[in-house]
Amino acid sequence: ATATCCDFILFGTLGDLARRKLLPALYQLEKANLLHAKTRIIGVARDSIDTETFTAKVQASLEEFVGKAQLDNAVWERLAKRLAYCGFDLASVSEYSLLAKTLKRDDNRAVLSYLATPPQLFPSICKGLSEHQLVTENARVVLEKPLGHDLPSSRDINQEVGNYFAESQIYRIDHYLGKETVLNLLALRFANPIFADQWTHNAIDHVQITAAEQVGVEGRWSYYDDAGQLRDMVQNHLLQVLALIAMEPPTRLDAESVREEKIKVLRSLRPITQQNVREDTVRGQYSGGFVGDKKVPGYLEEEGANASSKTETFVALKAHIDNWRWSQVPFYLRTGKRMAQKRTEIVITFKPQPHNIFHETMAQLPPNRLVIRLQPDEGVEIQMMNKVPGLGKQMQLKPTTLDLSFDETFENQRISDAYERLLLEAIEGNQYLFVARDEVEFAWKWIDGIREAWQQTNEEPKPYPSGSLGPAAAITLIAHDGREWDDDF
Ligand code: BG6
Repeated sequence: ATATCCDFILFGTLGDLARRKLLPALYQLEKANLLHAKTRIIGVARDSIDTETFTAKVQASLEEFVGKAQLDNAVWERLAKRLAYCGFDLASVSEYSLLAKTLKRDDNRAVLSYLATPPQLFPSICKGLSEHQLVTENARVVLEKPLGHDLPSSRDINQEVGNYFAESQIYRIDHYLGKETVLNLLALRFANPIFADQWTHNAIDHVQITAAEQVGVEGRWSYYDDAGQLRDMVQNHLLQVLALIAMEPPTRLDAESVREEKIKVLRSLRPITQQNVREDTVRGQYSGGFVGDKKVPGYLEEEGANASSKTETFVALKAHIDNWRWSQVPFYLRTGKRMAQKRTEIVITFKPQPHNIFHETMAQLPPNRLVIRLQPDEGVEIQMMNKVPGLGKQMQLKPTTLDLSFDETFENQRISDAYERLLLEAIEGNQYLFVARDEVEFAWKWIDGIREAWQQTNEEPKPYPSGSLGPAAAITLIAHDGREWDDDF
């Protein structure tokens, strides 16, 4: 297929996300020859610099985040030719005339505006684009998080952007949807009938989703302290992963079908209320400690910290999806900063066999587990029982692992960054990896309920040392149901 020709306007082009992720992603698309020969990339920010200075800055970012040694000069030169810069006050609608002038559009190519700016700027950006004829029929807008901090604020954003763009033109980013291993959930579930029939309460005991991080707030104190781990990670990334695991098979692999199924899941989340919030959720906050052999400060000692902050940097919770398929199957979610390892994985634990004929050697057989390692060390494993070879009178059994590592299976296949996939889909106009308005709003509704319940109970977050697995209460939460986290790290 030939690539779509567009004007790619990157708002917030000098910011951290653009430098770390978006510009490197564009470089990789260039390298893979996935950009149309005539596609242009226009960086927009408030600084008044010229295109030459901008180009040098882009090069510096690529050297830092792609790696100086990895940069291919010919590829860079092709990319550099596409670049232009336009600096003005993004809050001032009349100044968008500068952008229109820079673009000098003389054909009907798509305009893709990528809003990597604080959401407060979204309304004026949309208005500025609209008043300068940049919201054409084939225009698209990509929105970065955070899309609000609760349901009302997210509605406001959706409303404001919706005044200028139709829902079919709005691409809301959740970068987890661009991860290879998250996409692989679709393949795993819907290309393998052996799992499809087992994927219900009949066979599954419970599901665990863990997103453990080693990083702390990384100099983002003021954003992060307002948000906290529930809004920063659960509202978006974890709920998206949950929705992909729990949804019914979509009719087709297109935006409408996939989103419809995800929405049904999000709508079926059982509210967590004041009645069950104490048993079903845990909030934690990291204190000082060691991550690997690096000594790190506690959350309240981070640069710029407000020492009396009660923001959570860790959440564990038990979710229920109140529908037919998942009746009585808890989904345990857990995510935190400054944990022992970076590790994102899903563990599906199956129900025990109805009758144990090996009871003489093993009173209780460990359950089968399907472990989907999202990152790092991407792969899929099945934990299963096997007979230990030998002539012993009694059969010896042992838990063993069938392990499919992506690294070994798809040798020499680079795992692309989530943003490469998402930029490509946005350029090509495929919406299925982007989040629909209703998904965002149902997710917020559920999250707001948890936050309200937390406010009512007014408990302090439980401290946990950096480099640990989170507060002990997270272990109690699941142990209470006679289960345990699948932690071999
Ligand atoms: C971002 C959060 O959305 O996701 C960060 O704002 C978090 O706080 C990051 O660290 C995690 O993403 P990844 O891809 O490293 O798992």
